[in-house]
Amino acid sequence: MGRNSVIGLDIGTSAVRAAELDLRRNPPTLVRFGQVMLPPGAVRDGEILDELAVGEKLAELWKRAGFKSKRVAVGVSNQRVIVRQVEMPWMEESDLAQGLAFQVQDHLPIPVEDAILDFQILEEFAGPDHERMMRVLLVAAQREMIETLLSALRRASIRPDVVDLMPFALMRTLGTSPEFAQIQVLGDDAPRGVAEAIVDIGAGVTNIVVHEHGVPRFVRILVAGGQEVTDALATALGTGFEEAEMLKRQAAFEPVGAEAERIIEDRTKSVIEEVRGSLDYFCAQPEAAQLGRVVVTGGGGRIPDLVSRLESATGVPTEIGHPLAQVRLGKLGLSPDQLAEAEALIACPVGLALGERR
Ligand SMILES: Nc1ncnc2c1ncn2[C@@H]1O[C@H](COP(=O)(O)OP(=O)(O)OP(=O)(O)O)[C@@H](O)[C@H]1O
Ligand SMILES: [Mg+2]
Repeated sequence: MGRNSVIGLDIGTSAVRAAELDLRRNPPTLVRFGQVMLPPGAVRDGEILDELAVGEKLAELWKRAGFKSKRVAVGVSNQRVIVRQVEMPWMEESDLAQGLAFQVQDHLPIPVEDAILDFQILEEFAGPDHERMMRVLLVAAQREMIETLLSALRRASIRPDVVDLMPFALMRTLGTSPEFAQIQVLGDDAPRGVAEAIVDIGAGVTNIVVHEHGVPRFVRILVAGGQEVTDALATALGTGFEEAEMLKRQAAFEPVGAEAERIIEDRTKSVIEEVRGSLDYFCAQPEAAQLGRVVVTGGGGRIPDLVSRLESATGVPTEIGHPLAQVRLGKLGLSPDQLAEAEALIACPVGLALGERR
């Protein structure tokens, strides 16, 4: 029996958040959204360290947002999940699924016994001797990390139907804008495809996915984000985390002192440089499509001037993503201001829920 309503759950470094979509109409209706902040350190760099604290906050989230179901699509994104594009002799998808561990062990830096594997066949191509080959996107998540995630969910009696990769979820919400198809890349003689990069700058993790018309070409999970700006401020000024966080946000509107401003500037620059480095790496691939646009989301993307600075650093048109454009808005009980706040944070949970659409 198909379900009318699905919930996407994002356990981020700074907060747990979930979105519920009603699938009866197309596009789906966003009927509930909520988030609960996590105590610092409960999740670090996208990895659950304190499953008890996370379990508690999840229970609180369910209560506050009023989700009726406990079934979710949950996302993961941290250094313990590896995404690789591999080339291998063509085979039936079912054969690859069956012999996955055996087929891919040489492509992974961790023993296959310690990993939970998944894959997506991207395309077929002809090898040097015209043999039938295929390009496969391989996902390997460390088993222990997934087990910690499942046990945190269990503490709140939440049952995951799927564990999904956050960059894929992002592609679903932000990678389909119609205007993207209009982009023309000029001044290039060899016709190449046009790719779009989606960059989700969080607190501890920055997700990057470059795709061509919905086909992922490059996935990178960086340990970088807004929290390093806050941490640097707290350390330098000898304040607590909360105070540093407030100061950081305040800096968008008013002077906060030369030292604080210099620290914000320095740390922001390093986040931008990391993103630029990854995009440069993608672009340097011999057969890479031309990068036509960069779309930014995530709380860290709200650092003042980040978008324009990323645009200058990459030389590629860069803009803020609008995940809410992909859904109808139900009665969320949010003011326009709250909705605008939520938009930077909702791409992951909505994309996770969209993955449940069949
Ligand atoms: N208005 C703002 N100005 C500057 N930074 C902001 C603003 N709002 C949020 N942030 C920063 O965004 C970060 C949180 O972003 P987000 O909620 O997307 O991360 P997360 O999903 O919790 O963590 P991650 O994805 O890294 O695991 C924090 O570092 C926070 O300081
Ligand atoms: Mg996040």
